[in-house]
Amino acid sequence: MLATIASAALQGIDADVVHVEVNAGEAGEPKLFLVGLPDTAVKESGDRVYAALGNTGFRPPRTRTTINLAPGHLRKEGPFYDLPIALAILAATGQLKSATLGDWLIAGELSLSGATRPVRGALAMARLARRLGKRGLLLPAISAEEASLVEGVDVYRVDSLDRAARFLTGEIPLAPLDPATARRNAQTPPVDGAADFSEIKGQHALRRAIEVAVAGAHNILMIGPPGSGKSMVAKRIPTIMPAPTLDEHLEILSIHSAAGRTISGEMTWGARPFRSPHHTVSDVALLGGGTIPGPGEISLAHHGVLFLDELPEFKRSALETLRQPLEECEVSISRSAGKVTLPCAFMLVAAMNPCPCGYLGDAKHECRCSPTQIQRYRARISGPLLDRIDLHIEAPSLSLTELRSEKPGEASLPLRARVQAARSRQHGRFAGTKITANSRMTHAQIRKHCAIDSTLGDLLQQAMEQLHLSARAYDRILKVARTIADLAATEKIEAPHLLEAIQYRSLDRTVFY
Ligand SMILES: Nc1ncnc2c1ncn2[C@@H]1O[C@H](COP(=O)(O)OP(=O)(O)OP(=O)(O)O)[C@@H](O)[C@H]1O
Ligand SMILES: [Mg+2]
Repeated sequence: MLATIASAALQGIDADVVHVEVNAGEAGEPKLFLVGLPDTAVKESGDRVYAALGNTGFRPPRTRTTINLAPGHLRKEGPFYDLPIALAILAATGQLKSATLGDWLIAGELSLSGATRPVRGALAMARLARRLGKRGLLLPAISAEEASLVEGVDVYRVDSLDRAARFLTGEIPLAPLDPATARRNAQTPPVDGAADFSEIKGQHALRRAIEVAVAGAHNILMIGPPGSGKSMVAKRIPTIMPAPTLDEHLEILSIHSAAGRTISGEMTWGARPFRSPHHTVSDVALLGGGTIPGPGEISLAHHGVLFLDELPEFKRSALETLRQPLEECEVSISRSAGKVTLPCAFMLVAAMNPCPCGYLGDAKHECRCSPTQIQRYRARISGPLLDRIDLHIEAPSLSLTELRSEKPGEASLPLRARVQAARSRQHGRFAGTKITANSRMTHAQIRKHCAIDSTLGDLLQQAMEQLHLSARAYDRILKVARTIADLAATEKIEAPHLLEAIQYRSLDRTVFY
């Protein structure tokens, strides 16, 4: 007898349908044959399913049985198919009577005892089930809760093969999960860690620049001598990031779900991601890819922060590949298994020393680098990459008075409140569009929302000429000025806002050229 169940294969952060076909009762020696481009984890599925069936009180097939995962050209990866294979075997061997298998999309790993285990990409599967018009989705715990965030599809949580089988035959009732519960859980604010902005002494200009950058999701580069607090400040950015909107949160979760980070508990629900890859990171790990294209660091940082500490230490090739994603907020990856486009609207935070020894321009130390050394060091960061960084800020070494001061700096909480208020203004401005932050404005939106009068226009033109800035820098300055005005809660961009935005672009001239 032949039985078919719909399941899914992940392609980046989306899922494609895979039909699990089982034909039992064939002539020949009793054995399971698995075909349809399976990887090792899928091939091992047969053994797990065989044991799970036996341990659940079902009869494993006693004839030659072929399991086909269609379409054949799609690579099948991971242990998604244990549960649908087991259920299709039951149907094909007459042990699952009166079940309407065609109504469902099913995925899940099985333990030998028949208990289900969560799988990656549940959000993508929920979207697929909705697209296919399925009655519902059957998933293991954690995966099911995650999938229930998607509206318009019923998600049922099945904890074991036995329960799934009995639900499908109508023996036991199950209620679909309530999306409201999942949403509530998903929006619990991140637990405050020990790190707080109050621990940072001095560095007023740096604090302000970080506030502006986070408020509008602008890219920022911190330049300063060793021990001035650059890494310290960056690590505290998560404590002041605005809460993601529900749509942003779903996009963030889709990516992390596809990478398996939600089921392993690595992902904090309700928080924006903060990724800080080491400078030895490979191009694939940074951009995404692999035989089955999956998200890289830049996509895992979608709607959050990508922190590149010690920027010049990164391979130049890796940094250069960031140029296109930084501009387009998405990355295309082509591999033998197909091409996928992944979103990557991240905010870049980078830190570096001004020279190889780190003390160029420092009041307390003498710089020991030769001009050639300095030039070589800086040349690792290309002009086009710098051009995409909206705010360049110097973090000088602390004075002794600042260091000895017992007075705590401003805490994260009030800082976050100001950032949140500025971001809320942006949400209001961009309501009905896909954009949620000033840094993502298109050219037309800049014209509309960042209008400046002719006096300010002249001022900007003068600065552009003096600093030899590019057309891209022009737009980026206006976006930053918009954010500064939003922090000041004013509708119109005024001179102080524009001047502050310009000042954040002047450093690259003095330091880099
Ligand atoms: N502004 C500051 N307020 C309080 N402590 C600071 C500050 N700056 C530096 N420190 C102290 O110095 C240590 C090193 O700071 P941090 O790692 O942030 O320096 P950095 O600027 O990243 O240096 P490097 O260029 O060497 O990476 C911190 O752990 C902290 O103890
Ligand atoms: Mg550091």
